[in-house]
Amino acid sequence: MKIIAGNWKMNGTRNTLSEMIAALEHIDTENRVILCVPYTMLCTNSGKINIGAQDVSAHDHGAYTGEISAKMIAETGAKYVIVGHSERRQYHNETNAIVRAKASAALASGLTPIICVGETMDEKQAGKTMEIIESGVRESVPDDTNGNIIIAYEPRWAIGAGLTPSAPEIATAHELIANTLTDMGLANTPILYGASVKGTNAAQIMSIPHVDGVLVGGASLKPDDFIPIITSTK
Ligand code: 13P
Repeated sequence: MKIIAGNWKMNGTRNTLSEMIAALEHIDTENRVILCVPYTMLCTNSGKINIGAQDVSAHDHGAYTGEISAKMIAETGAKYVIVGHSERRQYHNETNAIVRAKASAALASGLTPIICVGETMDEKQAGKTMEIIESGVRESVPDDTNGNIIIAYEPRWAIGAGLTPSAPEIATAHELIANTLTDMGLANTPILYGASVKGTNAAQIMSIPHVDGVLVGGASLKPDDFIPIITSTK
């Protein structure tokens, strides 16, 4: 069983989500399928698909205009929320400390945070990939998770670029994350790979040790692109 998560980013409409839910209804798969959609599309009638959000406030409630709390997300029936996506880190200056606070808020409302870590091109070129990944995991994961988290490794330079690291690079990164999580007492945490996953490379990526699934951006928007990823592995 693998976890196939889609991140719609700021794309789609309620209609396209309904169409996706209908298209996935009769898929024969044992994989867990999650769609992380914009807040306005969070809904309870999602059939076999698990729904998630893409960000959450670190605050419980109060004067935080424009923010959405974990409790509000949970109330829609959503079960997951992405935290610390590289686009949040880049465009909204989210640090590991902020990501950790958001993950804590998600956990407190019963949501499973999908915590993203990954290096930029500058960090990669400076030889800091392993350091950034390990500190990302150690500093972004809250203490008291009850085992209810998912980690996503997203090399930031590869997102939306049609680029993917080599299989040995993915294997090395995921092994480091698995070892770090084991050291933190979180040995069974699923670890997803994300960045330029497509129907043509999904099976090979998910055959790499410690890759428990994928987090898919662009190729999760249309059933014709997403279904081959979901069915590429059992
Ligand atoms: P792409 O699959 O479009 O590269 O996006 C990856 C991503 O950011 C998923 O969260």
